[in-house]
Amino acid sequence: MCSIIGYSGNEDAAPIIVKGLKRMEYRGYDSVGVATESNSQIELKKGVGKVEDVNSKVQLDILPGKIGIGHTRWATHGKVTDANAHPHSSNSGQIAIVHNGIIENFDKLKDDLKSEGYKFLSETDSEVIANLLQKNYAISKNVKDTMIKTVSELKGHFSFIAMFDNGQLAAARFHEPLIIGVGEKNYFLSSDVLGFIEQTDEAIYIDNGNFILIDQEKMQILDFDGNEVKPVITKVSKEFADVYKGDYAHFTLKEISEQSETIFKAGESTKEAIKETSDYLKHAKNIYLTGSGTSYNASLVGKHLLSKYAKIKTESIISSELPFSPDIIEPNSILIALSQSGESADVLEAVSIAKKADCKIISIINSLTSTLARESDIVIGMNCGPEIGVAATKSFTSQLIILYKIIQELSNEKIEINFPEISGAISKILQEHNNIKKIANVIKDISDIYVLGRGIHYPIAIESALKIKELTYIHAEGIAGGELKHGPLALMDSNVFVIIINPGDSTYQDTLTSAREIKARGAKIIGISDSNSDAYDYWIKLPKTDELTFPISETIPIQLLSYYAALEKDTDPDYPRNLAKSVTVK
Ligand code: AGP
Repeated sequence: MCSIIGYSGNEDAAPIIVKGLKRMEYRGYDSVGVATESNSQIELKKGVGKVEDVNSKVQLDILPGKIGIGHTRWATHGKVTDANAHPHSSNSGQIAIVHNGIIENFDKLKDDLKSEGYKFLSETDSEVIANLLQKNYAISKNVKDTMIKTVSELKGHFSFIAMFDNGQLAAARFHEPLIIGVGEKNYFLSSDVLGFIEQTDEAIYIDNGNFILIDQEKMQILDFDGNEVKPVITKVSKEFADVYKGDYAHFTLKEISEQSETIFKAGESTKEAIKETSDYLKHAKNIYLTGSGTSYNASLVGKHLLSKYAKIKTESIISSELPFSPDIIEPNSILIALSQSGESADVLEAVSIAKKADCKIISIINSLTSTLARESDIVIGMNCGPEIGVAATKSFTSQLIILYKIIQELSNEKIEINFPEISGAISKILQEHNNIKKIANVIKDISDIYVLGRGIHYPIAIESALKIKELTYIHAEGIAGGELKHGPLALMDSNVFVIIINPGDSTYQDTLTSAREIKARGAKIIGISDSNSDAYDYWIKLPKTDELTFPISETIPIQLLSYYAALEKDTDPDYPRNLAKSVTVK
């Protein structure tokens, strides 16, 4: 998703902004730009490509001035072109803006502005903000009133930063993240604390419907009606600064490898919240789980766990589907929202629907300072450290561990979870990487991969297919074992690879039969199991563990397989094409 950044202080703005944009690269983007103000002149440079490449081409970081704004764009309105990259300048050149979100009424605003003689150089919705600000500034002649008028005219979701040629910065937040970093003699504005964490760990999380004015060393927060809002400074965990790859070639590999450790940390800092959650679940009439992508897949595992081990019935809902059937939510129920970032727009919308029905919101989140955390009644922290790779890996297994801890709590500790055993299993799988690498080399040119699992392993099959798609761009699909004969069997031939998730539990025999049926049609079988079989063309050995925790260990080989296949295909595993780490637009 787009990242915005702003700086006002006593140092050169451009290098700080470029550095901040690099730290936010993981959010996903296709173009980049920076604008600075010096001697009442705004200078602007931008282009399509990675921060590093655009910077070496046009030298973003030597723009002059101590005030500046920057942006990485993830295209929504208009193609990936230099002209559509941000910042966008107003017609007079007096104001430049960067924007994250979608201006829903941009067509109407653009037509109105055009009829008044304003010209537009891009296809974006964002450019209207620059010219609307110019129009309102010409009338009010002060930045505060200009902002009040402008935000009242915008519809949609936005956070934007505007830089005026008099050296003032103004920024507004409406359903998109915006954070102020407070330094000794400087202020930072950013979509993410990573934008400024190297400079300061003091942050102010801006509430929805507020805007900011920064004039040299003076900073003010106001609501959209212009009333002053008292700033609340939060100390941000220094852990956020720990976003280097170390000796690993990619963040994705680092994060996959960290799982033998992160499983111990999940929920540790919020044990009380797990207890409180289980108390609520015991007495709740209706419980819903929601999330997007990987987090939704984790919710499906949660549904199995709660029903099998705690006899609690729940419903898993894809967050983006809830607006189309909001009546599913019975009033006064519990909604458990799962999200790594806590900023996914779809999840936040699902939460707001549930809140309208007076539901209690329990969230399982990695980013404890996120919007979702602030919207929740109970927050359980995944505690797995920053996840930079766009493909969720360690956050998924941390979500599962928290769900395990909830059922353990519900059982009054009767259910035992052998953490050292799970951790040992993950380490063993990581050591087996040479076998997995060889299989990755075999599948790299395949066009279709299916992943089959039964029972609790079906959500893992869906999650595995998602990982394969994201990292390798190979078409992949999760199949519930029993559904094979109801359709997917028609697709099985010698061009196809099928990954069979087959640990030694009650699903084993039926799943082995599915493997044989597929093999008989000529497809190649990769078995992930604790025991080998002649049904498998390739075998990835799963260490023997308590069957309760198979879903965790069986996830790791497919993460690794997807990672190594991405390397074989020469795609970037950390930043898959067209994807963003946190999807903050609907
Ligand atoms: C997972 O690999 C994806 N990148 C994506 O599906 C992700 O899980 C989804 O966008 C939800 O994100 P969240 O957990 O931050 O809400």
